[in-house]
Amino acid sequence: MKTDRPLDIIVAGEANVDLLVHDAPRLELGKEKLAPAMDLTLGGSSSITAFNLARLGARVGFVGVVGRDLFGRFVEERLRSAGVDLKHMLRSANLQTGVTIWHLRGTRRAGVTCAGTIAALKASDVPAPYLARARHLHVGAYFLLRNLHPAAAALFRLARRLGLTTSLDCNYDAAEKWDSGIRRVLRETDVFFPNEDEARRIAGSRRITAAAEALARLARIVVVKRGAKGVLVRSPESCFEAPAVRVHAVDATGAGDSFNAGFLASFVRGASLEQCARAGVEAGARAVTRFGGTTAFE
Ligand SMILES: Nc1ncnc2c1ncn2[C@@H]1O[C@H](COP(=O)(O)OP(=O)(O)O)[C@@H](O)[C@H]1O
Ligand SMILES: [Mg+2]
Repeated sequence: MKTDRPLDIIVAGEANVDLLVHDAPRLELGKEKLAPAMDLTLGGSSSITAFNLARLGARVGFVGVVGRDLFGRFVEERLRSAGVDLKHMLRSANLQTGVTIWHLRGTRRAGVTCAGTIAALKASDVPAPYLARARHLHVGAYFLLRNLHPAAAALFRLARRLGLTTSLDCNYDAAEKWDSGIRRVLRETDVFFPNEDEARRIAGSRRITAAAEALARLARIVVVKRGAKGVLVRSPESCFEAPAVRVHAVDATGAGDSFNAGFLASFVRGASLEQCARAGVEAGARAVTRFGGTTAFE
């Protein structure tokens, strides 16, 4: 294990803000309705993972794109407050920082996203000398990162050549193609973190064990996240399930991203896969006890 490097993990991906409207009333065109409260929180699968990783004690760098605007400064302030290194954060002059407005009603939610900088990151924005300062590269929300698709596999190959391990979360594919070159990237991936629905759709298999098996022919370790059912882990050496921790869930935003943070914080410490999975389900459970993806880690 390379402990001589100053960073444990570089997270590359999207960073945006989530505006949570609590107890949102049904919208009607031509009318203004009142909601009792709102929260402005760090959003973005990749940036939530980076924040929570840092709060769990990992030394983290984040590479992503925000706009030169108030929300961009908010994203940077949040990440910096957790101790995330932002030396290679990019600030776009012509795109606005991405925003999702979530209408929450009970445990259900509906969102509208203004993508802004969300798809902007390119593989060449992640400098090789910076990678060489870390031990692991994680990319979240692969399907959203359209500019990254052409050279994502090359980026992961480069990371591996520089001695890093790699991990990938795909998140939902808004284009519903479930491809975007992900198989090429998975061949360079040590840990793949889809949820159950995503695993099924990418593998084209309705059975979750068959889907995990198919994906494990591409990535070295596949961790399928199954909400309140926990996770299924498949590696060349093992196949096991880790049950979720029972908690009172109020908001599932960022559960998967927090799971990734818990898992990876242990992974870079050289923990066993069972220990990594346990740390992941603990972090996922922690996330759902509060509104927003990072609140429970602040
Ligand atoms: N209601 C819940 N209670 C306890 N743990 C949960 C709950 N929802 C999610 N988790 C934990 O978070 C992990 C990731 O959540 P999941 O919803 O499967 O992923 P994603 O957010 O990527 O769709 C789960 O595997 C589980 O460990
Ligand atoms: Mg997810």
